[in-house]
Amino acid sequence: RKASGPASQIECIEFGGWEIDTWYAAPYPEEYSRNRVLYICEFCLKYMNSDYVAWRHKLKCAAKHPPGDEIYRHGSVSFFEVDGRKNPVYCQNLCLLAKLFLGSKTLYYDVEPFLFYVLCEYDDLGYHFVGYFSKEKRASSQNNVSCILTLPIHQRKGYGHLLIDFSYLLTKVEEKTGSPEKPLSDMGLVSYRNYWRLVMCKYLIEHMPEDKSQKKGLSIRQISDDTGMTPDDVISALEALRFLVRDPVTQVYAFRVDISYCHKEVAKWEAKNYVKLNPKNLTWMPYV
Ligand code: COA
Ligand code: NA
Repeated sequence: RKASGPASQIECIEFGGWEIDTWYAAPYPEEYSRNRVLYICEFCLKYMNSDYVAWRHKLKCAAKHPPGDEIYRHGSVSFFEVDGRKNPVYCQNLCLLAKLFLGSKTLYYDVEPFLFYVLCEYDDLGYHFVGYFSKEKRASSQNNVSCILTLPIHQRKGYGHLLIDFSYLLTKVEEKTGSPEKPLSDMGLVSYRNYWRLVMCKYLIEHMPEDKSQKKGLSIRQISDDTGMTPDDVISALEALRFLVRDPVTQVYAFRVDISYCHKEVAKWEAKNYVKLNPKNLTWMPYV
């Protein structure tokens, strides 16, 4: 089912005590789209029409975290895996919420073929929703992310990077390579380019042979296997860094890596002190 009905009037959502301006229309049922404000429970993602209903709901809603399994915890950061088949209402509500910040068409109702990885920050009141990405269950899919979102109130704090890093961690556990579903939004593209650039810099710092004459160990295929990035994404990331040059005559690629630049870029990123992924804290088996 696709979006239907009149254009949405929703200008903002009330969510976990925040008022968040929306960016795009989402196909909420008509009776919810008439108001300027939509009230959404930050834990179960139920949407409501009035602050009175939302207040009543808050008194009785037992959820303090997303449904599904907590598959990662490090410090106050957790990831929950939610199966679209087992928790369709939560996942539909999640897709509707995401659509408020996504320009492109996305799914809303047909959530069964997807898993949803929800990033939360924990405090005394519960697990607060920060962002998520969805992923197709289909094993043959090359996409390791379908939709990805950081709530606007949490953007530009490194959570997008963390979500992307987590998606590649799952891909590496699956012993595969993957790439986000295209087309990416502008924000998706800058975030992925930044991520890929940093992964390449870190990888090269660790794997560049000290002895330049010793070429062994550095190949597109090997980098792809080790990072979970597709060979195409590895090539484009290295080209963006100008670390990969193609001989105009032979058309053969050659590495021309500036390691001091890699060190500088990684140091710049680390200085931001964004929350880091700790792969050892993942407790997860690939979907079968
Ligand atoms: N403008 C410029 N650079 C940006 C950017 C933006 N809006 N968003 C991310 N970047 C780059 C920056 O280099 C940033 O580092 P910095 O903030 O220290 O400068 C780096 O990416 C990491 O950003 P991060 O804070 O990890 O990303 P985020 O948590 O803000 O989430 C998205 C990124 C894409 C998930 C988020 O913008 C979003 O949810 N957008 C709306 C939905 C969407 O478009 N999703 C993608 C659909 S394919
Ligand atoms: Na920032």
